[in-house]
Amino acid sequence: MCGIVGYIGRRNALPVIIDGLKRLEYRGYDSAGFTILNNDEKYLTYKKAGKVKDLEDSIDYNVYTGNIGIGHTRWATHGEPTDINAHPHFCMEGKIILVHNGIIENYKSIKTKLESEGYIFKTETDTEILANFINYNYKNTKDFVKAVQVSLAGVEGTYGIACLCRDEKDKIIAARKGSPLLLAVGDGEFIIASDASAVLNYTRNVIYLNDGEMAIITKNSHILKTIENKEINREIEVLDMVLDQIEKGGYEHFMLKEICEQPESIQNTFRGRINFTTGVAKLGGLEKVLPRLLEAKRFIITACGTAWHAGLIGEYLIEQFCRIPVEVEYASEFRYRRPIINKDDIVIAISQSGETADTLAALREAKKFGATTVGIVNVIGSSIAREVDAGTYIHAGPEIGVASTKAFTSQLMSLALITMMLAREKETLFSKTLIEMAQELKQIPDKIQRMIDRKEEYKHIAERFKNANNFYYLGRGVNFPVALEGALKLKEISYIHAEGYPAAEMKHGPIALIDENMPVIFIAPKDRTYDKIISNIEEVKSRKGIIIALANEEDDNIKNYADYILRVPRTLGIFAPILNIIPLQFLSYYIAVFRGNDVDKPRNLAKSVTVE
Ligand code: AGP
Ligand code: GLU
Repeated sequence: MCGIVGYIGRRNALPVIIDGLKRLEYRGYDSAGFTILNNDEKYLTYKKAGKVKDLEDSIDYNVYTGNIGIGHTRWATHGEPTDINAHPHFCMEGKIILVHNGIIENYKSIKTKLESEGYIFKTETDTEILANFINYNYKNTKDFVKAVQVSLAGVEGTYGIACLCRDEKDKIIAARKGSPLLLAVGDGEFIIASDASAVLNYTRNVIYLNDGEMAIITKNSHILKTIENKEINREIEVLDMVLDQIEKGGYEHFMLKEICEQPESIQNTFRGRINFTTGVAKLGGLEKVLPRLLEAKRFIITACGTAWHAGLIGEYLIEQFCRIPVEVEYASEFRYRRPIINKDDIVIAISQSGETADTLAALREAKKFGATTVGIVNVIGSSIAREVDAGTYIHAGPEIGVASTKAFTSQLMSLALITMMLAREKETLFSKTLIEMAQELKQIPDKIQRMIDRKEEYKHIAERFKNANNFYYLGRGVNFPVALEGALKLKEISYIHAEGYPAAEMKHGPIALIDENMPVIFIAPKDRTYDKIISNIEEVKSRKGIIIALANEEDDNIKNYADYILRVPRTLGIFAPILNIIPLQFLSYYIAVFRGNDVDKPRNLAKSVTVE
């Protein structure tokens, strides 16, 4: 989980590398560094614990001039985020210079072997072992490409790498297995990067590397090969993305921008996929597996974090409206617990990035058993999107804030569309109901906008609770996963301990924690659980808990129970989570801002978790 940039071409490499690292920083930001081959053919390296900005502030660009270089922004897995553990890493002789994303799982055995050959290591990273391993193989092969190939063939784990060699100064070698990497092909220049945001300033022509592939790049050429040395021909793709989409556009933080973009991102999810008069939902990407979806005895949804919460909501929707049994699994657990998967199961992976290692591994496990795999993914061309049998893009646009917001609501909208599509085919809903749903769906962007217009109200409540130490989030039915998601948002960026629970489960234990200092958020829209939720509110109130109710705009009754109210527009159950999460996103955003936290780069996290 880190950002990699490599540059070779006609410009000064460093500004391109720093600009790219800044854009990739959401992937990891505990330390950063670069190596430039200067105009005197000398390698100059600078690396430092802290963010890319700290690195940039402590260098003089004029010192590091040269047209070839590699850079890295790290999310430490092996070794603390210190200056010395930052990338690039060197082999003992200084010949091989490496930036690496991922984990070399068998680094210990490689290290032991190299130590017996006299190698000594200076850092605690697995990456330094790989740099030395390449050097070791270089001594035997006297060929940079071969040395990388032989080394990678002996590596277990995941990597995206960019590598330099003092004896073959004109090249960068990049390779991947399990970590994303692309090669941008500009006019007389090439850029290697972990994702497209790092290259958009320079070109939109890219080639995505697949697992097990490498690129050998010089100023005038690029060769693609497999690690086994087979040549590959791949067409250049033109990115359908503009720079505006990945910039803050006047907002203080990406997270705020992304929260406020939701009327539009939701519209992008359903555009062209629903007929408002007939209620027919169509998802082109799923058409070829539709018969299998309809025959399936069971769906298994697998995902991590926020996407897992979306999966839980999917379970409520698909079971309630399509009568198909659904199981929802943490991807990280799924793989290792010998799951029972049958050929006629449908395994659905939900992922914003499409690169989450745990989700990808779960998907591959499902494939081994012959299940049909389906992806609900945001990033176009990502690994999950490419590996599934069929899928649907959520089209939320680039999500940069580490805390997922607009991807979540677009995942929910995709699940609602899938539900409507299947319910119609299976005739588990009347077409009158589907038309009502479609009509309501049309209103969702405006209703989200109404909440955005109320953001000062939410901010006011956030200010009141900025110093809280704990929070409970409670909901019932389809709003229980919303409670989980609300609590995760708060934990991630405000560092306040928060828990989500099914509201009725409180009395089985957690209620013991309620006292006059405990804020409790009840998700209490007017649905069939409303009266029950009111009883749960009473239970907390009588133990002096502070009640914050998320309630519909027209619900006057709630004033009799709640100390604070987060107002939301009313909608149908199938869409309720999409609306109900919005005030909770604002609440955690503003609390984190009041606490002075770095909202877009919360501590210890990274946007794209490409390690297991
Ligand atoms: C969300 O706010 C989190 N940062 C995290 O839980 C995320 O949802 C999870 O890592 C899954 O990521 P993905 O959707 O890219 O697979
Ligand atoms: N495992 C390497 C390290 O800890 C790379 C981590 C990353 O992907 O940033 O340095």
